[in-house]
Amino acid sequence: MEKKLAGQIAIITGASSGIGAGVSKALAAAGATVVVNHPVAATKNAAEAVLSEIKNEGGTGMTYQADVSKEEEVKKMFSETIFQFGTVDILVNNAGLQRDAPFTEMTLEQWNYVLSVNLTGQFLCAREAIREFIRRGITPEKSKAAGKIICMSSVHEVIPWAGHANYAASKGGIMLLMKSIAQEYAGHKIRINSIGPGAIKTPINRAAWETPEAEKKLLELIPYQRVGVVEDIGAAAVWLASDDADYVNGITLFVDGGMTLYPGFSTNG
Ligand code: BGC
Repeated sequence: MEKKLAGQIAIITGASSGIGAGVSKALAAAGATVVVNHPVAATKNAAEAVLSEIKNEGGTGMTYQADVSKEEEVKKMFSETIFQFGTVDILVNNAGLQRDAPFTEMTLEQWNYVLSVNLTGQFLCAREAIREFIRRGITPEKSKAAGKIICMSSVHEVIPWAGHANYAASKGGIMLLMKSIAQEYAGHKIRINSIGPGAIKTPINRAAWETPEAEKKLLELIPYQRVGVVEDIGAAAVWLASDDADYVNGITLFVDGGMTLYPGFSTNG
């Protein structure tokens, strides 16, 4: 197989489970050296398990504990990665979580927690990545771009979501954060895009697909009639990070089986 990301160093945040783990494996299979980030001591074993799977398949990388909402921890993750591997070529801003509540019952803590990980975390990591991309510039043997950032957004950057106002606000915020910095740094040959996953089978939405009844209900929202898997997102991430997508900048690539097509309108309206 052609290794489209050979020799490139990728940091994937929130990579000890779910989409982050899947994207780490896909980037490693495409030849990237991966930094499998995880947030706390309790997630270390899961991150190590992801890395050993990667190594068994012939990939390389390391795990790194850092809470993306903490400036000092993010800075250390980047300096340690640069110390170990020389630079960073790809950032996948993936770490994200949900703390759902009816809006009138949502606590400030639930609001702040979701915004600080999902949105502030992407700001802090993107800032460090762009600083490194500018310092290093283009390495033509590796890529036409000086660096690539993929922000993990959601269909909920455009689809409102009752009961999840904090989460939807964080994803709407990611959309204009991504577009604003894509505009700001395009001249430096830095490409910044988002992936907007729909319903992907991971721990974050287990209740929505775990039982046949739940899955049937979920499929009403998915015209393509299947729930997504992390490999769907991994393939999109490899493409966006590779030179095949060299002219793609500032977009959200929805990988959602058509969830953003407003399926309710196929029989109504
Ligand atoms: C959420 C999932 C949800 C999906 C589709 C994602 O961003 O994290 O819980 O199933 O959007 O609604």
